[in-house]
Amino acid sequence: MERNPHVTVFADGDALAAALADRVATALSAALETKERVSLAVSGGSSPLQVHGLLAERPLAWDRVDVVLVDERWVAPDHEGSNEAFVRETLLHDCAQDAQLTGLWSETGNLPAGATIASRAMAYVSQPLDVVLLGMGPDGHTASWFPSAEGLTAALADDASPVVAIRAQASDVTGALTERLTLSLPMVAEATSISLLMRGETKRAVFEQALSDGDVEDLPVRAILRKRPDMWVGWAP
Ligand code: 6PG
Repeated sequence: MERNPHVTVFADGDALAAALADRVATALSAALETKERVSLAVSGGSSPLQVHGLLAERPLAWDRVDVVLVDERWVAPDHEGSNEAFVRETLLHDCAQDAQLTGLWSETGNLPAGATIASRAMAYVSQPLDVVLLGMGPDGHTASWFPSAEGLTAALADDASPVVAIRAQASDVTGALTERLTLSLPMVAEATSISLLMRGETKRAVFEQALSDGDVEDLPVRAILRKRPDMWVGWAP
């Protein structure tokens, strides 16, 4: 197996989104051929917006799809920063309106307890995950595996719980929402199909740096790149 994932380069964001929507729809269709229920884990942020919209137009058996969040800011669904709200708005409409969304946030008010509750909820989602769609921040994080974050070691451990609590170091990337819940590395790495999309020269440079030797804690996307060098990576300017 190749040591590093191959990067598929697209002329623009439209081409990247179209290709990734095709890839995800194909993977979900294949899984639906063999299983009663399938699972799709999606990320927040700006990159996946267009892909979600295209996926929602695909006539799949969405009522048999469990949509889960790769990560969540520790805010209620009525907060503007909620990934659950973002996914409901951008993906769960048109053909995909009947997909079952399992959020990560709960009213427990306590981040570690929230991680425990979310981990239990993941037991009802088809596993291993069939499709995971990742973004990457300009700081080299993916999911909510932020550099040097509290909880990062636990999230990347081989025996990690399905969902782990993260307290990130505040940065321009995290903004004020430094308390997060995230799928752990084993949950993501065991998925059948993993795709990462990124845009722009800055992220491309960070990605190339992540391919080099170095500590995972510095550029945590390294964790999944090294575990799953077969994963699909798409980039556009
Ligand atoms: C989040 C996302 C996060 C995202 C990256 C990339 O909660 O913010 O899940 O992990 O994938 O930050 O975000 P952009 O696509 O907006 O650059």
